[in-house]
Amino acid sequence: MLEDLRKVAVEGFVPILRDESTKILQDLCNKNQPKNILEIGTAIGYSGMIMLNASKDGYLTTIEKNEERYALAIKNFDEGGFSDRVDVILGDAMEVLEKFAENNRQFDFIFLDGPKGQYVRYLPYLKKLLSVGGVLFADNIYFRGLVKSEGKIAHKHRTIVNNLRLFIKNLEGDMDLNTQFLDIEDGMSISKRIK
Ligand SMILES: C[S@@+](CC[C@H](N)C(=O)[O-])C[C@H]1O[C@@H](n2cnc3c(N)ncnc32)[C@H](O)[C@@H]1O
Repeated sequence: MLEDLRKVAVEGFVPILRDESTKILQDLCNKNQPKNILEIGTAIGYSGMIMLNASKDGYLTTIEKNEERYALAIKNFDEGGFSDRVDVILGDAMEVLEKFAENNRQFDFIFLDGPKGQYVRYLPYLKKLLSVGGVLFADNIYFRGLVKSEGKIAHKHRTIVNNLRLFIKNLEGDMDLNTQFLDIEDGMSISKRIK
C-alpha cells in the first residue's frame, strides 16, 4: 500500500518524504517507539503510515490545511487499517499548535513537514508540546541546498531561506535540545529534548 501511495503522490504532484528520509524516520520511530506522535503536514498520509507502522502502540495526530489531501489521507488511513490510531485535523498548523499549547498537550515524537517558511514560528510551540526525552524531526531544512549556499538567493525563495536559517540557528542555540543536522537529501534535523 505504501508503494501505491508513493505512486499516487508522485502522479498528483504531492510532495512526500524521499527514500533516505523515509528510512531515517522509520528508524527513529522503531528505536524510540513513541506513543503520542504529532505531524505537521499530513499530505495524503504516506509518512503518517510509516510512523504508525514503525511505532507499534503509537497514536498519530496529524495536521493538514489542504481539504482534498485531508480527505484522501482519511481514506488512506482507513484502507490501511489505521483509522483507530489516527486523528487527522483539517486546519492551519499555527492555529492548531496554539490551541494544543494552551491545552498543555504533550507528544513524544513530532514530525515537522509543513510549510518551510513557518518552521521558525512553530518552534517555540513545538518545544512546549514536546515532552522531555521526546524527539523533533524536521525535514527539508536545507531547502534545495539554498540554505547552505553562499550565493545570492532569488527573491521568491529569500523569506523561506532566511527563516530556515533562523530555525537552524535557534535549534543550535537551544540548550534544552540536543540537535543533530543531517545533510542528506533536502536536509533534516533530529532534536532530542533533554530538559
Ligand atoms: C511536504 S508535504 C507533507 C508530506 C507528508 N508528510 C509525507 O511525507 O507523506 C507538506 C504538507 O503541508 C501542508 N501544509 C502547507 N501549509 C500548511 C499549514 N499552514 N498548515 C497545515 N498544513 C499545511 C501542505 O498542504 C502539504 O500537504
